Amino acid sequence: MPTPDGRTDLRSDTVTRPTRAMRHAMASADVGDDVYAEDPTVRLLEETVAEMFGRAAALFVPSGTMGNQICLRVLVPAADEVLCDAEAHVVTYEGGGAAQHGGIQTRTLVAERGLLDPDAVAAQIRPEGYATVPTRALAVEQTHNRGGGAVYPVDLLARLRDVAVSAGAAFHCDGARIWNAHVASGVPLPAYGGLFDTLSVCLSKGLGAPVGSLVVGEQAHVDVARVLRRRLGGGMRQAGVLAAAGLVAVRDHVERLAEDHARAQALAVALADAAPGLVDPGLVETNIVTLDLAGRAVGARELAAKAAGDGVLLGVLSSTRVRMVTHLDVDDNDVERAVTVVAKLLAA
Ligand SMILES: Cc1ncc(COP(=O)(O)O)c(C=O)c1O
Repeated sequence: MPTPDGRTDLRSDTVTRPTRAMRHAMASADVGDDVYAEDPTVRLLEETVAEMFGRAAALFVPSGTMGNQICLRVLVPAADEVLCDAEAHVVTYEGGGAAQHGGIQTRTLVAERGLLDPDAVAAQIRPEGYATVPTRALAVEQTHNRGGGAVYPVDLLARLRDVAVSAGAAFHCDGARIWNAHVASGVPLPAYGGLFDTLSVCLSKGLGAPVGSLVVGEQAHVDVARVLRRRLGGGMRQAGVLAAAGLVAVRDHVERLAEDHARAQALAVALADAAPGLVDPGLVETNIVTLDLAGRAVGARELAAKAAGDGVLLGVLSSTRVRMVTHLDVDDNDVERAVTVVAKLLAA
């Protein structure tokens, strides 16, 4: 389904527009003042999502960025450290928020497709001690955005958790697309939920809601998260109009992510066929397809600019990497159109 101006937008799964069912739910939502914790629709969303992950509590926050930043501050005191992979959203796209807001030191490890190796983490993690900055949290991203939508196998997460626990560090999950991991792997959401001290999960990516994320965890952590949300200016008043769309998203749009995954696979297979070496369909596990343009005549920015001229919007990850993301507003015709346009531009 193209954008209102007739384009196919594959830049991100954040570009979706709310569905008719969401708009209807928003218009008829019961609301109250959520800063007083009196908005019934927000409370229902928080209870629903906490239960989906098998955890005690959840807190509705305006964005995934705020969710992550709040979680890091819940887990890591100022001047101590969080360890994560070098391409993680928390250290790539969050404006240096951990340093600015939390005074938190970040240390990063280069990891294949963004998936941390427990032995590499064990070699770097620092327990509390006089001479070193203690690692207070280990953060992972499920699925990994810049890692091409890669899914952490659940046993790998369990090993990483063990490494964190034995060093006295907490374990955080940037679960912006954890729903995609759940659908692709078949691992139940509570199995993920039980591994982490805190999770930030997004409603506004593949699930298609216009706004919102949730911080999920134990009650004490969520209570601190509520204070931090207020301090960051994230306390919202009649937020039930937004939470109503989120409830539709978690009710109706989780299992349908399989359609996005199938379209991403079809896209990857067709492009690999048209331009061998461009993408490995075997590495496309969810809704993100990353094209490798190294050694080709056309760079990422040029390809994206030309494709936009032909009505297909692509994301640029680096000078040689382009991203195509399937979502609620992408149908089979969009996939066909994108393949035709990209294959034509690469052949030119
Ligand atoms: C992996 C990941 N985490 C967090 C976020 C942040 O979400 P938001 O844009 O709602 O702040 C994004 C956004 O695309 C993301 O891809």
